[in-house]
Amino acid sequence: MTRTSRLACALALSALGGAGACSSSSTSQDGSTDAGVCMRVDPTCPATVPSYATTIHPILVSTCATCHYPDSPYAESSLVTYEDVNLAYGAALGQVSACLMPPRGQMQLTDEQRTALLDWLACGAPEN
Ligand code: HEC
Repeated sequence: MTRTSRLACALALSALGGAGACSSSSTSQDGSTDAGVCMRVDPTCPATVPSYATTIHPILVSTCATCHYPDSPYAESSLVTYEDVNLAYGAALGQVSACLMPPRGQMQLTDEQRTALLDWLACGAPEN
C-alpha cells in the first residue's frame, strides 16, 4: 500500500514536472525507504495570498501543532500562535518545501494544504 502510493506520488510528480507536491494519502509507516520521492518545490508569493486566520492557522493547528507547541519535548519551535509562526516561518518554508515536515509516517498535508501553506510562507507569513 505505502509502496504503491509512493510510486503513484513519484509518477504524478514527474508527470507534473514536480509541481504537485507531496501526495496527501501516502503516509509511510516505516519512515525509512521513501527519501527523495516527494520533490522539493520552490514556492513564490502568488497574487492572492492565503489568509492566515481562515486557512493557514487551522492547517498549522491540525498538522503541525500536534508536535510544535510551547515546551514540546518533540520540537523547538511552537507553531500555535501567529507570533510563534512568525519567528519560525523561514525555517518552516525550508522544511515544508523540502518535504521534511510533517515528518514521514505522520499525518501529511494534502496537496491543497501544502500549496496554501507554502504560498503563505513565501509571501513572508503575513498576519492577514
Ligand atoms: C510528529 C511530530 C511533528 C509534526 C507533526 C511536525 N513536526 Fe516539525 N519537527 C518535529 C521535530 C521532532 C523536529 C526537530 C527534529 C528534526 O529536525 O527532525 C521538527 C523541526 C521542525 C522545524 C525546525 C525548527 C524546530 O522546531 O526544530 C520546523 C520549522 C518545523 N519542524 C515545521 C513544521 C511544520 C510547518 C509542520 C506542519 C506542516 C511540522 N513541523 C509538523 C516534529 C514534528
